[in-house]
Formats: sequence, structure tokens, C-alpha cells
Amino acid sequence: MEAFEGEAGEPPGLPREPVSQGSGRGWRDRGSNEREDGDIPKRQGRESIVTEAAGRIALRGVNKTYRKGVEEVRALVDVSLDVNPGEFVAVVGPSGSGKSTLMNIVGLLDRPDSGSCELDGRDVEELTSDELARIRNEKLGFVFQTFHLLPRTTAVENVELPLIYSSRHDISGLGEKALEAVGLKDRAKHVPSELSGGQQQRVAIARALVNEPEIILADEPTGNLDSRAGLEVLAIFQELNRRGKTLVLITHDEAIAAMAGRVVEIVDGRIVSDRKVENPRDASRELERWGGNGPNGGAGAGPRPTLEGGDGP
Ligand SMILES: Nc1ncnc2c1ncn2[C@@H]1O[C@H](COP(=O)(O)OP(=O)(O)OP(=O)(O)O)[C@@H](O)[C@H]1O
Ligand SMILES: [Mg+2]
Repeated sequence: MEAFEGEAGEPPGLPREPVSQGSGRGWRDRGSNEREDGDIPKRQGRESIVTEAAGRIALRGVNKTYRKGVEEVRALVDVSLDVNPGEFVAVVGPSGSGKSTLMNIVGLLDRPDSGSCELDGRDVEELTSDELARIRNEKLGFVFQTFHLLPRTTAVENVELPLIYSSRHDISGLGEKALEAVGLKDRAKHVPSELSGGQQQRVAIARALVNEPEIILADEPTGNLDSRAGLEVLAIFQELNRRGKTLVLITHDEAIAAMAGRVVEIVDGRIVSDRKVENPRDASRELERWGGNGPNGGAGAGPRPTLEGGDGP
């Protein structure tokens, strides 16, 4: 089967990552879900296809080979991985080891050549294209190294993009709420060029959160950020995780990986280690050491993320 883009229900207005051109079955887009997560309001008008343990990922014997002419790259080799609801897993490994390939498969952006990928007990191969589109849009939130914000669109409008395709009835104010949760309410009306890199990434996180996903998949989200902005992003992720979100974070940075609860290492397409982090570094605490006034410190400082508050996403 050929890789394809533009599956049913795909938000055409959303910026996208390129679809891999490998041997295969491909999917693409981004979105979110209906976890009842503290103050997160329950979705209306839509029955859940999730029955229990929302946010569970199970890969079994996944293989993915890219072919270009006679050349073959085995990007993933017999990868099996379980991520339980509420876990925060960092995926590390050298460049070209298969991390993004893994994330694209978990995120339903690409298909394995063989093996299975289950999300909340459903084998994604068995989903209809409508279900697939819905799961991508409702269950998963994506954050990438490059922020993929629309340049002439304000922060709040960027955040609200996924809602255009949402079946929610009441979406008013959700964009502001998501921005507030990442400490950027006061930047809602600014376009990306008026925001720092760290702020742009926080807008991208707010966009990933706006549909209330259970699972957040982040591929090198701190790769374009300085240390402080990276810590701010991690502080948000840690807080989201404390609030029950399942997180899979790809990073080259061991110090960032040490903020997760578990580190999975991939080398040459194979998982070579999988270990619990005994005392994860606390990004908020480390940010305090930087002083200043929270995210972005001096110029362009905004309030600290308000996930702790009663009404963030
Ligand atoms: N669309 C593609 N076509 C051909 N080969 C590909 C494609 N995508 C990835 N690869 C190859 O598959 C292997 C794994 O790539 P992948 O992007 O998953 O690595 P990665 O661990 O994310 O690397 P990085 O840390 O540099 O982002 C690499 O050898 C890469 O060149
Ligand atoms: Mg990558």
C-alpha cells in the first residue's frame, strides 16, 4: 500500500510534518481526546471509543524499513514497547536510530511494515479511516522541534486551529485557556514573529493541548531552544504528566531525558535499554534557580504556566 496524506478528517489548515516516503503504509495529522482530567471538561455530543486505561500504547514486533533504490534502511527492528497511561517516557538514541520513525508510528502518522501498534487496546490497523482520523485528532497531541505555527496568524488562532475540526459543541475560550496553561495568555494576539522561540514552542504546546489529548508526543521539542526555554517546556510537560497525561518525548539531551520517569534507548532501530528514572529532575525547581519571573524571564516575560490553577487544559 502506498503512503498517503490527506486521510478523511484531516485538518487541511494545519501545518504538517512531511510524510515519510518509505516502504509503506502512511498516515498523517495531529489532535487530541476526552480524558476527564481534573478540571478538564468532559466532551459533549460524542461517545468515546476509549473504554479504559486511556493513553496506553503497545507496540509488538514492529519493523519499518525504508527503501531508496537498492538501498535499505532498517529504521525499526522488532520493536516492542508498552507505555502505560500516565507514564512519561523519554526516547533517546543517536541520530538516525529510529526515534522519529517510532514516534510517527505511535502517532498514526506512519504504519509499520509488520508488527502491531495498539492504542488503548485497539489495533490501529483495524480502525476505519474515520476512527483513525478521530483518534489522531482527539487522543494525540503533537509537538515538534520546529514549531509549525502559521506565520500570519495570532497565537490564539494558531492554538484554536485543531478545534475547527473538533466535534465539540462549546469551543469558545478554549484557545485562551490553553495559552493560559502555558503562561502565554498575555501574548494571545501576537503573531509568531513577535514571540521568542520558547514562546512559539509554548504556543505549539497549547495547540497540542487544546483538544485535551491523553497522549502527547514530542519529537525534540527543545531542540531549537536555549537551556532556559527548554526547561520551561519541560516544566509544562512535567506538570501535564502530573495531571495524568501520557507523554512520549524524543530527545538527544540526557539532561532532558532525566526529567522523564523512564528512558528508552534506541540504537540502530532496536531498543537497547529501558530503565526507570529513580529521581527525575524537576524542571520547575531548576527554573527557579535561573531567577527572573518565570517563563522567558526578562524581556517578554509572561506569567508562569498555570496548569496548577483550576482551569488550564
Ligand atoms: N522517509 C525516509 N526515507 C528513507 N529513509 C528514511 C526516511 N525516514 C527516515 N529514514 C531513515 O531511517 C533511519 C531512522 O530515521 P529517524 O528519522 O527515525 O531517526 P531519528 O532517530 O529520529 O534521527 P534524528 O535524531 O536525527 O532525528 C535513518 O537512517 C533515516 O535516514
Ligand atoms: Mg528524529
